[in-house]
Amino acid sequence: MVDNETLRQLSARKSVRVFTEEPVTAEERAAILEAAFQAPTAGNQQLYTILDITDPELRRTMADLCDHQPMIAQAPLCLVFLADCRRWPRAYRAAGVEIRDPGPGDLLLAVADSCIAAQNAVTAAESLGIGSCYIGDVLENCEAVRAALHLPPQVVPAAMLIFGRPTQQQKDRKKPTRFPAEAVVCENVYRDRTEEELRADFAARAGGEYDFDAKIPPFCAFKYNSDFSREMSRSAAVYLKDFPFGVE
Ligand SMILES: Cc1cc2nc3c(=O)[nH]c(=O)nc-3n(C[C@H](O)[C@H](O)[C@H](O)COP(=O)(O)O)c2cc1C
Repeated sequence: MVDNETLRQLSARKSVRVFTEEPVTAEERAAILEAAFQAPTAGNQQLYTILDITDPELRRTMADLCDHQPMIAQAPLCLVFLADCRRWPRAYRAAGVEIRDPGPGDLLLAVADSCIAAQNAVTAAESLGIGSCYIGDVLENCEAVRAALHLPPQVVPAAMLIFGRPTQQQKDRKKPTRFPAEAVVCENVYRDRTEEELRADFAARAGGEYDFDAKIPPFCAFKYNSDFSREMSRSAAVYLKDFPFGVE
């Protein structure tokens, strides 16, 4: 197995949900943001805007709207990566160009751009000893999140990240294990795993024994059939249906 410091850090990174009081310094914040800017970006357009949520009241609102996760209010740094399909059209119009309205392709590209920038921020933070956690629930409560963040048309939340130094308990916590490569990599064509393979994949992910029939139903109830998951799908449907939320 090839090995170097980057690979070791990527492998060791785990989500951090409890932070020490120590702030993320201005220099560290700048380095994390700079790493985000340097991520690959479609056509070098940087199709995102990053909201640094510093207002404690707005943090609390976001903590509530994002499935009531208090760590959002408590984290030293909280960034929302917005898919921004507004900056370039405004520049086009400023240059006197007549343009079409932004469409779903523009939105998906901007979402990809935003998430790639966010992941660079995660990796940069990790290299500085600063942990992070994505908050997927930023996709929920579409109407209230848009209002709380005062989002203009053509701008949609793509990813939310909280950052801070891990407590000792978080450092000591074991990183959750992954599926083996054969479970997630296909050659040339997609192939469904057989049920037997699927069961073996979950056992391998658990590092040996896995009571598939006992453990999968509650996981499904919590993660897939849950209220938050249904709300995320409702909100995402609104984003896709109502995008670009008007044109100015
Ligand atoms: C798109 C996305 C959304 C996530 N949303 C949440 C979240 O809302 N709350 C949370 O505690 N963790 C969230 N996570 C973190 C995952 O739970 C975590 O990455 C996963 O359990 C694997 O653990 P690891 O990051 O420590 O390797 C999210 C991760 C991703 C990539």
